[in-house]
Amino acid sequence: MGSNQLLLSLQSADIGIRNEVILKKVSLEVTKGDYLFLIGKTGSGKSSLLKAIYGDTHISTGSARFKTFDLTKLRESELPTLRRKLGIVFQDFRLLDDRNVFDNLDVVLKATGWKSKTDRKNRILETLEKVGISGKQERFIHHLSGGEKQRVAIARALLNDPELIIADEPTGNLDPETALEVMDLLEELHKKGNTVILATHDYRLIKRYNHPVIRCENQEIHRLESVGS
Ligand SMILES: Nc1ncnc2c1ncn2[C@@H]1O[C@H](COP(=O)(O)OP(=O)(O)O)[C@@H](O)[C@H]1O
Ligand SMILES: [Mg+2]
Repeated sequence: MGSNQLLLSLQSADIGIRNEVILKKVSLEVTKGDYLFLIGKTGSGKSSLLKAIYGDTHISTGSARFKTFDLTKLRESELPTLRRKLGIVFQDFRLLDDRNVFDNLDVVLKATGWKSKTDRKNRILETLEKVGISGKQERFIHHLSGGEKQRVAIARALLNDPELIIADEPTGNLDPETALEVMDLLEELHKKGNTVILATHDYRLIKRYNHPVIRCENQEIHRLESVGS
């Protein structure tokens, strides 16, 4: 068994943008190896909660820690080290469209201190294999399908062995079948030990994949005891 290491802990945290509170009294714990779904309608605060974890929305009261980081008083200078421990995946991929797959990943490795070209290359090829797109490193992003783009984005998220994968509607721009392929990949990564928190408004996904579900609703979050049939 794992060590039950607590990665993320929010206690009565109010999350907001400027003076507006988006989620109130959020309490949430994520332990190493967990896979949590975050569900709720558009505008219910899913992205805001995820942003609070990577230091992009403000936590005004309560306590919030990720590893050694106090998320309530993050300094600008801490953001790169915090984000290096997170693998963030977005609905719209956020890749450099006019570069190839290899360069998209190499940019990240260079920016995170990988000095040796050989090490970077090995890391990139090994990571592309993990996400099932070996051999596509020379392809330009704009020549990839949506599913392949999301695999590249997941590869980018994995490059530095993140403690936590944060996926914000990762299947939102994919057709239903491709969505399931990307979900299957995340499932596989979870089985290999990755910790995942995934926001979606697609109830089909949370019925199909059996993970604890947290719902955002009326500015609050609560855990759903059971979903589906
Ligand atoms: N940058 C922003 N400035 C002001 N309000 C925002 C901003 N981003 C989100 N909001 C508001 O916060 C609420 C929650 O949005 P969001 O976290 O994006 O929800 P979800 O991801 O569930 O769709 C919404 O009312 C939205 O209008
Ligand atoms: Mg959102």
